[in-house]
Amino acid sequence: MNVTVFGTGYVGLVQAAVLAEAGHKVICIDIDENKIASLNKGQVPIYEPGLAPLVERNLSSRTLQFTTDAKTGVDHGEIIFIAVGTPPDEDGSADLRHVLTVARTIAEHMGESKIVVNKSTVPVGTADKVREAIKSELDKRGAGDLAFDVVSNPEFLKEGSAVADCMRPDRIIIGTDSKEAEEALRELYAPFNRNHEKIMAMDIKSAELAKYAANCMLATKISFMNEMAEIADRVGADIEQVRQGIGSDPRIGYHFIYAGIGYGGSCFPKDVKALITTAGKLDVTPEILASVEQRNERQKRYLLEKICAHFGDDLSGKTFALWGLAFKPNTDDMREAPSRVLMEQLWQRGARVQAFDPQAMEECQRIYGVRDGLQLCGTKESALAGADALIIATEWQQFKAIDVEAVTSGLKNPVIFDGRNLYDPKQLARSGIDYYCVGRPRIPAAR
Ligand code: UDX
Repeated sequence: MNVTVFGTGYVGLVQAAVLAEAGHKVICIDIDENKIASLNKGQVPIYEPGLAPLVERNLSSRTLQFTTDAKTGVDHGEIIFIAVGTPPDEDGSADLRHVLTVARTIAEHMGESKIVVNKSTVPVGTADKVREAIKSELDKRGAGDLAFDVVSNPEFLKEGSAVADCMRPDRIIIGTDSKEAEEALRELYAPFNRNHEKIMAMDIKSAELAKYAANCMLATKISFMNEMAEIADRVGADIEQVRQGIGSDPRIGYHFIYAGIGYGGSCFPKDVKALITTAGKLDVTPEILASVEQRNERQKRYLLEKICAHFGDDLSGKTFALWGLAFKPNTDDMREAPSRVLMEQLWQRGARVQAFDPQAMEECQRIYGVRDGLQLCGTKESALAGADALIIATEWQQFKAIDVEAVTSGLKNPVIFDGRNLYDPKQLARSGIDYYCVGRPRIPAAR
């Protein structure tokens, strides 16, 4: 099928590349000329495992094309995706400006009937707004009798496994009131719906809400576990044991119940805020969502409380090795990353940071520039050199097996503040390391 995707951000680019790989002919449109120029050279602006080769391959077979020319895109696609960003505006609701601009652009160039698919995460009711925007633009140019459908088709991909998630989705939600649109999307997604039925057709508003409900439920699980971890800390229980104890109940499950230093990224924080705002506008008091958010804000400072309890509130003259800058492993994304709150709090208290991340160093440099108190180190070992303690903010695979010798000889004092519960507290205590983690009893280091 001929498909057009507006927006070459995370969602748009991955979806476009995966659809092209499945045999569809895809054109991607973006207003950013530099981005389109680099994509046309096969340069992918984000780090995502498997994405670059997919883009390269489909670019050379011309199943995937990039242009800034909206008309070419609208002419080409029988199905047109809107996958542009929805940044939060001041009151926390999703800013629909870009989505509605694309809707009007589509209407401006539409010469025949089209199916317009909302892929961006947008509040309930946005499909109606997209429909109105298209209709009024068509009316303006005297083309009001052109037929079109608007579909809500939320994405559920995770950074770091976006290509895999898109290739093997666990569900494909099609929100529409049109049988023809549903059939067209079923055909589009047939290559991804082979072994068992993953397509769920539903009404538009349910599809729109399902996306928010999914992310907010996951954020709730995390905040819940973080609250349990604090209780565990106080009572002397081990949250890792608790996790296994409850995860074995299939009604609870093992996924997304890891305590840590809070969720970050481009989705959870934004979506929780947006749903709180939506609820407020509907006169619903979002008590659970508000607590989920509050707990997360607090959790991002959790390690700092332990650091101050150990070293005192004034950290001037102290240097901290920081492993992990990205909000989670396998991405270079630092949006809403707990590491940022940590670093900023450390700087405020006069400390210096020697940071290492396998992917996010450039991103860190872009955000903070060259500044006092931040040194980016080429290896995890060099980040340790002469530091007063090690802080772990992201559970990268390469941090998971501890090299006791490197840590004890690198650090001034063998102290670790682990925000992701990577190590066995008993083993670290035996090795003479002072080990603070989240929700597990502290065992005094043998010295
Ligand atoms: C999320 C959703 O998972 C995805 O379905 C949606 O489409 C977009 O938002 P993503 O933001 O890429 O994806 O990250 P995810 O893997 O979900 O992790 C989110 C955050 O939660 C990370 O900061 C992670 O460290 C944290 N987390 C996750 C925990 O603290 N504990 C857990 O048990 C799981």
